[in-house]
Amino acid sequence: MLDLRDLSRPVVAAPMAGGASTPALAAAVTESGGLGYVAAGYKTAAAVADDLAAARAATSGPLAVNLFVVERCDPGADVLAGYRADLEPEAARLGATLGEPAWDDDDWQGKLDLVLDVRPDLVSFTFGCPDADVLRRLAEARVHTAVTVTTADEAREAVARGARSLLVQGPDAGAHRGTWDLLAVPAAQPLPDLLRDVLAAVDVPVVAGGGVMDATGVEALVRAGAVAALCGTAYLLADEAGTNPVHRAALTDPAFEATALTRAYTGRWARGLANRFMAEHPDAPAAYPQLHHLTSPLRKAAVAAGDPQVAHLWAGTGHTQARPGPAAELTRSLTP
Ligand SMILES: Cc1cc2nc3c(=O)[nH]c(=O)nc-3n(C[C@H](O)[C@H](O)[C@H](O)COP(=O)(O)O)c2cc1C
Repeated sequence: MLDLRDLSRPVVAAPMAGGASTPALAAAVTESGGLGYVAAGYKTAAAVADDLAAARAATSGPLAVNLFVVERCDPGADVLAGYRADLEPEAARLGATLGEPAWDDDDWQGKLDLVLDVRPDLVSFTFGCPDADVLRRLAEARVHTAVTVTTADEAREAVARGARSLLVQGPDAGAHRGTWDLLAVPAAQPLPDLLRDVLAAVDVPVVAGGGVMDATGVEALVRAGAVAALCGTAYLLADEAGTNPVHRAALTDPAFEATALTRAYTGRWARGLANRFMAEHPDAPAAYPQLHHLTSPLRKAAVAAGDPQVAHLWAGTGHTQARPGPAAELTRSLTP
């Protein structure tokens, strides 16, 4: 079974659902000594199977898969109708028809069956923690398991349920916070303090990330006790990443100086480059994945129109340090 302490370079290229993660990126990172990810979020189980097969064809090294654990959420029809009404003028401007704000579980059972069948080296979970039975079945299938945590309490609970390792996500991280409780304000404890508290609370290998953009940052986490660093934003401009052109351009545009947390795109807190859409919808409700489905056509239309003020531009606070280039080179540059 995979042991995260055995990576020849202590870097995990974070799962990045929604396009940035590709089989080529996963394979390139693994081939260069780190750990590459297939991001299963938003995809059908069949598409995830194809991605895994494509990544596996390109490397015989370890590969990870990340699944969303989506909790039940019912914000009420009035709340969803109100937010839809707020977005209609923007949709009309871009010629988009807003999506149906329905709840779904991201094909949980289909993807769980897939990973139990295909048995990637590591399966990790974000937005929540599966029950002990799921973690036990994966362990019996000799699949290493990890759970994303954002507090020491989540870390304790994940390990109590049987998680074999943890992905500790600090507040500087790009995209969604992995906070288990959708209604909670995401924890703001700085990553070094959070890592210290988690390491004091549990005794499993810990990968830590959020704002880590260079070898100094990776080294500091390893010195503090992490077995590896989790880097997402550092790979967004990688040649092999599927980051869309609007997102790529914004990441290198000095006009996008700051990042902020927003619920406006998906109904779950996420960090992205601050733009007009985020500024205009500061009070978007907690409604995941309903708002994801509602805004999806709007975001696609914004990308098609080349409009970074409406497209979502996920990024961590270290985004100005993101560099283009082959993923193997980026992986090497992240380690001494
Ligand atoms: C574009 C993007 C998409 C992401 N998608 C996922 C995902 O599907 N699953 C997940 O667990 N984390 C996801 N994350 C968060 C990462 O796992 C990780 O916590 C974060 O990238 C670390 O911070 P950094 O971006 O500053 O390196 C995503 C991050 C980015 C930037």
